Amino acid sequence: MNQIRQMTKNDIPQVYEIERRSFPYPFGEVLIGSLYFGAPELCYVLEQDGKMVGFLLGGYTPIPRQAHILSFAILENFRGEGLGKGLLIHFLNQLKSLELSSVKLEVNVENQKAIELYESLQFKIESRIRKYYQDNSDAYSMVRREE
Ligand SMILES: CC(C)(COP(=O)(O)OP(=O)(O)OC[C@H]1O[C@@H](n2cnc3c(N)ncnc32)[C@H](O)[C@@H]1OP(=O)(O)O)[C@@H](O)C(=O)NCCC(=O)NCCS
Repeated sequence: MNQIRQMTKNDIPQVYEIERRSFPYPFGEVLIGSLYFGAPELCYVLEQDGKMVGFLLGGYTPIPRQAHILSFAILENFRGEGLGKGLLIHFLNQLKSLELSSVKLEVNVENQKAIELYESLQFKIESRIRKYYQDNSDAYSMVRREE
C-alpha cells in the first residue's frame, strides 16, 4: 500500500540515501536538512508497505513568491509505476492552499523521462541554464503557473 505523508526531521537520513542513489552529484545530508527546515510544509515522502521509496523536497523563492522543487526522486526499483507522478500531483494539490502563483524546477536537459513527466502536468520550459550541474551539463528551468 502506498502512502504519501509530510516529511519529518527523522526522515532526513533516508531521504539522503535515496538522493545519493538517484543523482550523480547528490545533495549532502546536511544540505538536505537545511532545505527541509527551510520549508517543512513543502517536503513529502512516499512509502510503500511502510518503506520509504521516494521523496520530494520543496522550498520557496522570494521574488516572485513561488514554490521551488529542489529535489525529487523515486528509488530505482520502484520507478515507472506511476509513483513519481502521484507524489508530484500530491505536492501540486497542497500548493493550492498556500496561494502561490507558480512552481518552478530545474531538470537536466538529458532527463527526457522527467521532462515528459513535468510536461504532462503543464510545466513549460522557460529557459536553458548553461553549465548548471557540476559536470557542466545544462538544465532547463521549467515553470507551472497556477490558475
Ligand atoms: C523522475 C522520477 C522521479 C519519475 O518517477 P517515476 O515513478 O519513475 O515516474 P512515473 O512512473 O510516475 O511516470 C510518470 C511519467 O513519466 C514519464 N515517463 C515514465 N517513464 C518514461 C520513459 N521510460 N520514457 C519517457 N517518459 C517516461 C511519463 O510521462 C509518465 O507519465 P504516464 O505514465 O502518465 O505516461 C524517477 O524516474 C527518478 O527518481 N529519477 C531519478 C531522479 C530524477 O531524475 N529526478 C528528477 C530530477 S528533476
